[in-house]
Amino acid sequence: MVAKLWLAIIPLLALGVVAAKAGDQPPDRFTATEMMEDLMYGRGTVGGPFTLTDQNGQTRSDTDFRGKLMIVYFGYTFCPDVCPTDLMAITQALDALGPAADGVQPIFITIDPARDTKVLGEYLLSFYKSFIGLTGTPQEIRKVANAYKAFYAKLPPTKDGEYAIDHTGVIYLMGRDGEYLGFMPPQTDSQKLTEILRKQLAK
Ligand code: NI
Repeated sequence: MVAKLWLAIIPLLALGVVAAKAGDQPPDRFTATEMMEDLMYGRGTVGGPFTLTDQNGQTRSDTDFRGKLMIVYFGYTFCPDVCPTDLMAITQALDALGPAADGVQPIFITIDPARDTKVLGEYLLSFYKSFIGLTGTPQEIRKVANAYKAFYAKLPPTKDGEYAIDHTGVIYLMGRDGEYLGFMPPQTDSQKLTEILRKQLAK
């Protein structure tokens, strides 16, 4: 189990190290390794209060979702592979739960607020119907991501000005009182996700 987890995480760490060398490093940012270690070894808190804006322009806070489990995922709509794969796994897991999925609130927090404006809502139409997409100022998003120990770093732009963002793609599971329950590594398959959610919903 632990070994499997590491297999999933090592490529992320490697990516993070490359990005940290290539990009600028604001003082409020930790390295991918530091953040992933904190997460894995349970150092410090994970999650906490947030107030951001959803894809319909409504203000949303973590307290709006009390009484439901929260799935929290940090990503961006231009992400070529990891984000859509994980969002699809979350979608399939929630589909498999049937009506019980009402007890789970899936949340996608963009780490690319500059580009994820109107496209955020359009993008989420491809995934589970109750998905909420959240955005905010770069500072607000960095603060929430740091609280979740979620790493991200913009990569140098290509000639046409487009850029990719290196990021941790873990799936966070939060409890009905907003407490941190755990995280699932990127590429967790939807059946495992369904089992985990079913167990938590039964509690
Ligand atoms: Ni991604």
